[in-house]
Amino acid sequence: MTHFDAETAARARELVKLYPEPRSALIPLCHLAQEQDGWLRPEAMEEIAALLGITPAEVRGTATFYDMLHTEPVGRYLVSVCTNIACLLGGAEELLEHAERTLGMRAGGTTSDGMITLEDAECLAGCDRTPCVTVNHRYVGGLSPLAFDQLIADLRAGRRDGEVPPHGTLVRVRRNGGLRAGKEQIASERAATADAQAARARAAKEAAEAQGGGA
Ligand code: FES
Repeated sequence: MTHFDAETAARARELVKLYPEPRSALIPLCHLAQEQDGWLRPEAMEEIAALLGITPAEVRGTATFYDMLHTEPVGRYLVSVCTNIACLLGGAEELLEHAERTLGMRAGGTTSDGMITLEDAECLAGCDRTPCVTVNHRYVGGLSPLAFDQLIADLRAGRRDGEVPPHGTLVRVRRNGGLRAGKEQIASERAATADAQAARARAAKEAAEAQGGGA
């Protein structure tokens, strides 16, 4: 009995095959699990651990390090308001207070209908549009309180579905396959790289020895 549905499980197996070391697929698999569930459920972390030959604690340890991975339930829309310096100067604190009043909860909470999670975020790299707001990691611009209320109304009514998929979906257009290069080609390129590194190391060692001998 697996937690992943058939499509997710197949994509998970494909992802693992993309990396020389299975554990390198850890973060992509976490995103995949979030795409299925909206957040990282304990059962998903267990399944990821089993796929990668690591412990669920290692999965959790990595997941809790990254802001984009959530080990607690998240609403359909994660609304992030940046309160870092450029946005702070552009009215972020006032906007966040307004957002808390509009949504009837503090930042970090989720509305009772499970639609909106509000987050007080660090710099979102959109400092030219302050106060910067993203929804599910999509920029929705620097917003006035009025525009924020309109955004929430639009999200609730599904009017932004075209640009903002449910939380957890990073991309909607998938590559139609895994690695383009064959395994043999990758192996031979890796071997050539290793040979070149070894040759450089030998040359450096010989040069150092020659210098030491001449001194
Ligand atoms: S300081 Fe807000 S996006 Fe950079």
